[in-house]
Amino acid sequence: MQQLTIRRPDDWHVHLRDGAMLQAVAAATARQFARAIVMPNLRPPVTTTAMARAYRERIQAAVRTTGGDALAAGFTPLMTAYLTETIDPADLAAGHAEGVLTAVKLYPAGATTNSDAGVRDLAAITPVLETLERIGMPLLIHGEVTDSDIDIFDREAVFIERVLAPLLARHPGLKVVLEHITTSDAADFVRSGPANLAATITPHHLHINRNAMFAGGLRPDFYCLPVAKRELHRIALRAAATSGNPKFFLGTDSAPHERHAKESACGCAGIYNAPVALESYAAVFDAESALDRLEAFASEHGPRFYGLPLNSGTITLERVDTLVPDRLDGAVSGDHTTELVPFHAGETLGWKLVG
Ligand code: NCD
Ligand code: ZN
Ligand code: ZN
Repeated sequence: MQQLTIRRPDDWHVHLRDGAMLQAVAAATARQFARAIVMPNLRPPVTTTAMARAYRERIQAAVRTTGGDALAAGFTPLMTAYLTETIDPADLAAGHAEGVLTAVKLYPAGATTNSDAGVRDLAAITPVLETLERIGMPLLIHGEVTDSDIDIFDREAVFIERVLAPLLARHPGLKVVLEHITTSDAADFVRSGPANLAATITPHHLHINRNAMFAGGLRPDFYCLPVAKRELHRIALRAAATSGNPKFFLGTDSAPHERHAKESACGCAGIYNAPVALESYAAVFDAESALDRLEAFASEHGPRFYGLPLNSGTITLERVDTLVPDRLDGAVSGDHTTELVPFHAGETLGWKLVG
């Protein structure tokens, strides 16, 4: 097979940022995906329908300015609200009914980038969870405990046991997406869980294990949260993604940080994979002899879980060696342009998006 044409996919987890960084990254996502679930962890976080509406307009304007009218017309950002302990459930429900808010995002406070306004005590948001359950609005979860006495490589598995399983038992009708899963524990839990539980899987967790962060020296470009785990987990994630099971779908977690913010004494967590996302997934499915399952993972399982229509157009990937640049231009401010290091920088991928 030299070309692969599939139904146009969606990205069910992406960070588009704001301001100059949004201008730098938005078109890369819009070029590949018809829709994207946009994460709300801005500063300040997106916590209301009004903020989500305004952010959606900034995203559409950025795609138009940097990619043109046709690209903007073919791309729909799906907005999320950042759950805090004081969020207004009535506003979430109204935003959902209006079509402004697609889902709500739960960040345990302190778990990841810009999560300090997140939730410390789940009991404080019981009324919000009851509302989501009642109206069928999905809850998207960054699934890691934050206790410093739990080893960082165990935080996802411990979250599942201590937080997620009890939460699902308390709210059996709640639609939950466990985002960016990184362990065989998570894949098993989602696979054996109820139909209202699903998971997104990133390209980077399908390609790298934790050794990547230490290969020949400290490699901040491979640092993200949840952090990559042992090889056995990567193998389990590849099996889950390519299995055809509708509970697993595409979510890049593309999370740009300027190069200097990553290559620093306290480097930021996040991998910028948007420019090569589909090529990166295609390489995995190809290596697993599962190219015939890429379309379901990328374009069917997500919309079915969210209760949204499948996209109508197609995209085409060609089997051709493609060198990924070492650096890309990031945010422009005045006469200064920051640098972004894309995932797979300096590597050759065997696929290219051609249409
Ligand atoms: C994300 C970011 O930078 O916003 N970082 C990351 O490592 N994944 C936050 C997140 O998705 O947890
Ligand atoms: Zn996260
Ligand atoms: Zn994320």
